[in-house]
Amino acid sequence: MESKLILSIESSCDETSAAVVKDGREVLSNIIASQIDTHKKFGGVVPEVASRMHIEVINGVVEEALKEANVTLDDIDAIGVTYGPGLVGALLVGLQYAKGLAMSTGKPLVGVNHIEGHISANYIEHKDLKPPFVSLVVSGGHTFIVHVKDYGIYEVLGQTRDDAAGEAYDKVARAIGLGYPGGPKIDKLAKEGDKFAIKFPRAKFNDGSLDFSFSGVKSAVLNYLNKAKMKDEEVNRADVAASFQEAIVDVLRNNVFKTCETKNLDKIAIAGGVASNSALREALLEEGDKKGIKILFPSPILCTDNAAMIGSAAYFRFIKGETSPLDLNAKPNLKL
Ligand code: KG4
Ligand code: ZN
Repeated sequence: MESKLILSIESSCDETSAAVVKDGREVLSNIIASQIDTHKKFGGVVPEVASRMHIEVINGVVEEALKEANVTLDDIDAIGVTYGPGLVGALLVGLQYAKGLAMSTGKPLVGVNHIEGHISANYIEHKDLKPPFVSLVVSGGHTFIVHVKDYGIYEVLGQTRDDAAGEAYDKVARAIGLGYPGGPKIDKLAKEGDKFAIKFPRAKFNDGSLDFSFSGVKSAVLNYLNKAKMKDEEVNRADVAASFQEAIVDVLRNNVFKTCETKNLDKIAIAGGVASNSALREALLEEGDKKGIKILFPSPILCTDNAAMIGSAAYFRFIKGETSPLDLNAKPNLKL
């Protein structure tokens, strides 16, 4: 089959990104303009600010992606874009831009689910990865266990009933004074702490479901900190970080390996911002080694939001003939 080039755009949260991806696996460029430094001042993403910043940089980001890939719009076969889930105002900036390009060039538009993008980052990292496999998607907004049955065919087997894993990291980090985004900071601080120092709760459901709940562990950490404060006791922040992280990693590991057993699958591909977490990687690798299950994860730059992962997902839809109408709307609550 002839090679296909996708120009892809991602703007669902606080990164404006454009990429050129060849045949779903080869990244020719992946430009990411992060707004993290701005949102840091507010301790989290401010939606209105995010939309405005996307508008300011999107044109330059797309031009840079084409330039770095050494191609022009004429060389592009289709335009891939995230249309959900995410912040509606932020999504609309990338989507309107992509639709404009599709209209003016006559190239097909391929709408992509952001979660599907995160999973697809693994196709870029692991050139011979093919479905079926289990994917654990852990990001700031989402926590899913997905059975990837084929390209673009998903069955969600478990999800969070309250906070996302990354959200719990960010909230706990803020409570122990680490700032935003908290995930990488807890990851680092936890290395100096004892993960068995404090026993934080692990939520389990009696209905045998593979769902998660992280609000309980988050509240337990906040209570622990408050109690210590009231008694004027010194808190070992590294122990809190390590013990909190262990509680999160423990349930993620249990549920994802249970999925492999019940579905008889031998590959786990982790995805999303929290897939960069060193404790999660180590725990899964260790257990995978014991159980003969292969653990895959993308490099950190492909774990957090980026357009290359969207380009990969768009490619696998495009070659199946799946394109989107030009009146495609943003869907902030889009399901996988
Ligand atoms: O995938 P992502 O960039 O955005 C969403 O789609 O949500 O994920 C961002 C999340 C943030 O909550 C951040 O704290 C978390 O990923 N994160 C980490 C690490 N690196 C990023 N969490 C734990 N450990 C890390 N090393
Ligand atoms: Zn994301």
